[in-house]
Amino acid sequence: MLIKKPDDIRSGEITDENLYLNRRNFIRAAVLAGTTTATTLLYRKLATPSREKPKVDPATSSGASGYFTPEGEAATGFDDITNYNNFYEFSTSKEAVAIKAKNFVTQPWTVDVSGLVHRPKTFDLDDLLKLAPLEDRVYRLRCVEAWSMVIPWLGFPLGKLLEQVQPLSGAKFVKFMTLLDPQRMPNQRGDVLPWPYVEGLRLDEAMHPLTILAGGLYGKMLPPQNGAPLRLVVPWKYGFKSIKSIVQIVLTDKQPNATWSAYAPDEYGFYSNVNPSVSHPRWSQATERRIGEWGRRDTLMFNGYGDQVAHLYSGMDLKSNY
Ligand code: MTE
Repeated sequence: MLIKKPDDIRSGEITDENLYLNRRNFIRAAVLAGTTTATTLLYRKLATPSREKPKVDPATSSGASGYFTPEGEAATGFDDITNYNNFYEFSTSKEAVAIKAKNFVTQPWTVDVSGLVHRPKTFDLDDLLKLAPLEDRVYRLRCVEAWSMVIPWLGFPLGKLLEQVQPLSGAKFVKFMTLLDPQRMPNQRGDVLPWPYVEGLRLDEAMHPLTILAGGLYGKMLPPQNGAPLRLVVPWKYGFKSIKSIVQIVLTDKQPNATWSAYAPDEYGFYSNVNPSVSHPRWSQATERRIGEWGRRDTLMFNGYGDQVAHLYSGMDLKSNY
């Protein structure tokens, strides 16, 4: 992936997480007032009191508040989250993605779930958003390029969707695909990557309660540049695993040929768990640049989610299974 020099980064407002949480009602009201479009369900969910107390499993929650919140870390500002993006279907320039994706049409939208399942189904967006209450999940996002953010997502566990289709016992992996439509995603006319963008997880990683499908951030609908209308978020893995604008999910018995690991297998492994002690061949992963902050921070093993996910890899050599 292209690495930007530090001075390419716009400085942005850092919004304190508590401030964000306190002003959710205000944002929700603004969203509700500002739209009458077809994705009424998401808006209805945004207005539902059940969102005030997200349904999270206290056994796996990392924050005392009941949110999956990185303690003592501020959420990255909305402007930075939505103007510094990797989304190669629109542009390889992080600063250009928001402009190029501005008019991306995401309605109607369906997600087809098939493969080794008892009940394959094509879900439309409203079906998906009915599956589970939308939850606030404030997660670190660590890009393999050694920058990071803290993003307040709005989403639901991927496991809720997988339960619906009932995986067969032979299903071991989950493969995800982004929309392929060069009319709507103009950079797909070029060959910077093989299209469509593909990602994959082991089934147990996909079923882990931290793994979500996000349809919003900062209490608003997901903007196109962040992967509208629905994207994966796997917070303990490098950001490229969190595939955007998903249209297809296939359960399979074979490890999927994911885009970046097929493109440069020595640089981007299938697992791509955040690991400060395994360097990328061209740079160290020991530290990271938190967007909106000065200096660098130490990178945390599994991006700080080790107490919840390390057991998934017990007995595995994480240096060769990078
Ligand atoms: N998904 C698709 N379809 N195309 C992409 O180029 N980039 C990935 C990931 N998902 C990408 C993608 C990378 S490298 C990162 S770091 C994150 O999206 C960035 O997500 P963000 O722009 O919401 O911060």
